[in-house]
Amino acid sequence: MNLLVIGAGYAGLITAICFANNGNRVYVYDKIKEKLDKLKASETPFFEENLASNLDKAISSNNLTPVYNLSEGFEKAEIIFICVATPCKENGIDLSQLYSVCEELAPLIKSSSSRKIIVIRSTVIPGTTIAFTKKLEELSSKKYPQDFGVIANPEFLRQGDAIQDFLNHNKVIIGSENEEDAKTLKQLYEPLERPIILLSTKTAEMAKYVNNCLSATKISFINEMGLIAKEFDVDINEISQALDLRVGPGNFPLKAGCGFGGSCLEKDMRALLAVAHKENSPSILLESTISVNDSLPIRMVNNLENKLGPLERRKIGILGLSFKRGTDDIRNSRSVPIIIELKRRNATIFAYDPKATEKMKSVFSEISYCETAQELIDKSEAVVILADWEEFSDLDYRDKIILDGRNVIPKAKRGKNYEGVCWP
Ligand SMILES: NC(=O)c1ccc[n+]([C@@H]2O[C@H](COP(=O)([O-])OP(=O)(O)OC[C@H]3O[C@@H](n4cnc5c(N)ncnc54)[C@H](O)[C@@H]3O)[C@@H](O)[C@H]2O)c1
Repeated sequence: MNLLVIGAGYAGLITAICFANNGNRVYVYDKIKEKLDKLKASETPFFEENLASNLDKAISSNNLTPVYNLSEGFEKAEIIFICVATPCKENGIDLSQLYSVCEELAPLIKSSSSRKIIVIRSTVIPGTTIAFTKKLEELSSKKYPQDFGVIANPEFLRQGDAIQDFLNHNKVIIGSENEEDAKTLKQLYEPLERPIILLSTKTAEMAKYVNNCLSATKISFINEMGLIAKEFDVDINEISQALDLRVGPGNFPLKAGCGFGGSCLEKDMRALLAVAHKENSPSILLESTISVNDSLPIRMVNNLENKLGPLERRKIGILGLSFKRGTDDIRNSRSVPIIIELKRRNATIFAYDPKATEKMKSVFSEISYCETAQELIDKSEAVVILADWEEFSDLDYRDKIILDGRNVIPKAKRGKNYEGVCWP
C-alpha cells in the first residue's frame, strides 16, 4: 500500500521504516527539514537499536521516501499516519501538534478527488479521534465517512526494542467507527501476523492509557515490594522470577529497579489524571504510582550519603544517562533528577553513556563526561547504574561503592560494596 507518515520522531519513524521494509511504499514528512535531510542520506536522526540497518534497507529499496512538502506525500498515499507528539500540559494533554496537522490536511482533503484514511497513531485522550474528525469536516467542508476516514491506531512500542516490538510482539489495536476502513488497515497489518483487535475509536484510545498505566503501576508495585523485601535482606528479583510476574503487551518479565522513565508512562498517566480530575473521578492509585517513582531518585542519593557521608566534593559516577538501554532518549530519564539532586548537594559528577552523552550535554554542560565506562569507574568513589546497557554487566568495578538501579551486575560479580536500589 502507499502510506504517508507525518512526524518522524521515535514512534513515526519506526512505523514508517517497518511498513516500508514490509513491502509498502512509504512517504515520511516532518516539519523539521534537517530530519528529512538526514533520512535522505540514510542517517538516523536519533539512536534506537537496529534502526540504522533498517533505515538503510528502507531507503536503498526505495520503499521509504522523505518528502519536504506535505501535499507531495498526501497525493500519493492511501493511508496517512499522524505520529506527532502529544505532550502533557498542566490541565491535561496538549493536542496542538495534532490540530495543526488537521489544519494542514484540511485543504488537501478539500481538493482531493480520492478518499484518504487518516490514522491517529499518537496517544490521545478518549474522544479525540471523534473531535478531530468533526474539526476536519468543518475545515475541509467534506464529510466523514464518505469523503475521508479517521481511525485510532495507538502505538505500543517500547523504545530500545521498538523494531522488534513492531514486527513481533505487540497486539495491533484498530479503533474505527467504519468497518471498511478498519478492514483496510487490518490488511496493511496482516503480513506481520500479529494479533489484530478491532474496537471503537474511544475504546482504542483508552486501551493505550490502560496499557501504560498498568505497566507503570506494576513497575511501582514491584519497586515498592522490593524496598520492603530489602529490609528483610530478600531479593525481589528472585520473587518476580518465581511468581513469573510480567509486564506490557509483549508479556516481558517484570524487573525491579530505579523506576520508569521515558517520554510516555508518566506523561500519559498525568494526562489521564488531569482528565479524570476534571470528570470528578480522581485516581489515588495513579497518583501513588507516580509518587513511588518520584521518590526513588532522592532515595538513591540519600543511600549514597549514608555510605559516603556528606556528598560535597565526593566523586559520584553516573553510569547510563538514557532512560534505558537501546535508545539515546533522555526524556524523563532517572539520571536527570539524580544529577539535579547531586548538584544540589555539591557532589563532583562524572557521567557516561554509550549513546546519550551528547543529548545530556545540552541539559547539563557543567558536569564531567567520560569517554568510557571504565574511565568513569576509575575516577569515581561511588558509581550509580541507571540504564541497563549490556556493557555495564561486564566491567571491572574494582572495589568501588556500587548502587545498581537496573540489576545489571550478575550476582557472581557483585563485590562487598554492591547494593541494589530495591534489593540487597
Ligand atoms: N516514543 C515512544 O516510545 C512512543 C511509544 C508509543 C506511543 N508514542 C506516542 O507517539 C506520539 C509521538 O511520540 P514521539 O516520541 O515519536 O514524539 P517525537 O517528539 O519524538 O516526534 C514527533 C515528531 O513530530 C514532528 N511534528 C510535529 N508537528 C508536526 C507537523 N505539523 N508536521 C510534521 N511533523 C510534525 C516533530 O518535528 C517530531 O519529529 C506521542 O503521542 C507519543 O505518546 C510514543
